[in-house]
Amino acid sequence: MKHPEPTEVNSVGAFDDTPLARELSEITRRKLALAAQRLPLPPKTRVLTVANQKGGVGKTTTTVNLAAALARSGARVLVIDLDPQGNASTALGIEHRSETVSVYDVIIGDVPMAGVVQKSPEFESLYCLPATIHLAGAEIELVSLVAREQRLHTALDQFLAESPDLFHYVFIDCPPSLGLLTINAFVAAQEVLIPIQCEYYALEGLSQLLNNIKLIERHLNPVLTVSTILLTMYDSRTNLANQVAQDVRDHFPDQVLNTLIPRSVRISEAPSYGQTVISYDTNSTGSLSYLEAAAEIARRGAPQ
Ligand SMILES: Nc1ncnc2c1ncn2[C@@H]1O[C@H](COP(=O)(O)OP(=O)(O)OP(=O)(O)O)[C@@H](O)[C@H]1O
Ligand SMILES: [Mg+2]
Repeated sequence: MKHPEPTEVNSVGAFDDTPLARELSEITRRKLALAAQRLPLPPKTRVLTVANQKGGVGKTTTTVNLAAALARSGARVLVIDLDPQGNASTALGIEHRSETVSVYDVIIGDVPMAGVVQKSPEFESLYCLPATIHLAGAEIELVSLVAREQRLHTALDQFLAESPDLFHYVFIDCPPSLGLLTINAFVAAQEVLIPIQCEYYALEGLSQLLNNIKLIERHLNPVLTVSTILLTMYDSRTNLANQVAQDVRDHFPDQVLNTLIPRSVRISEAPSYGQTVISYDTNSTGSLSYLEAAAEIARRGAPQ
């Protein structure tokens, strides 16, 4: 059989079909879709606590990148770093040496937040309440203080009420535990965002987390709901990741975002430059995924 000579169109078509070309055209499609949309701004401040007592599931990465994505779209956003590790402060390029006035002074020393919040160099409307190593002692010190579960809530309410401009979003990055710091975060928020890593033990500990949230809702904060679940570090090449993602979607069909955050080297590199992936490599798949997740969160919270 005689094969036809390849025409110019055919040869271009053949190039288009390489994995690299497909990936590039997919990235372009996603960039254009993101550029075409304007995100709604909430009429009142949305306070989201990012929590999961499992370590290393992507709480901090999710906090700083969603915050940056929303700030990039024009929202005023505050990140409260409630982890003594101070990782969120680092990723947002915020000073947090041990002598820095920090969230510790707000919670334990009743220092008003207004003088402690710093502006992030990442985006014009992005702010951070930093954490320092002193916060490590706060779990113990809180025990003997009055209203020990409400201290962050009281400070944040006062700050938001006195702020001349509306903050559209506050994200609280929790440590990997269910101690008093995390309880303070639950009491200060209306929404909980749970990042879940697409790995074998993903669902372990989740029922304990949900029970704790229910207790807080019953006794300390009746408006608290788990509004959002985000699947992180997803590797589409493994069956396991697909299965975990499907399991979580089956259990929480209304909370899980459609967007999955892929495992990405660019995401893990960004903090070492004191940056979010949104500014470090805007067009990487990791950045696009966080921009898409942020858009979903903004649209879900918009008044109907
Ligand atoms: N999508 C991703 N792709 C690749 N690496 C990631 C991704 N998300 C997070 N990481 C990396 O995984 C590690 C844990 O992430 P992160 O610090 O966000 O988790 P965490 O839940 O806040 O941890 P901790 O419980 O210690 O506070 C970090 O080194 C981070 O850079
Ligand atoms: Mg963290």
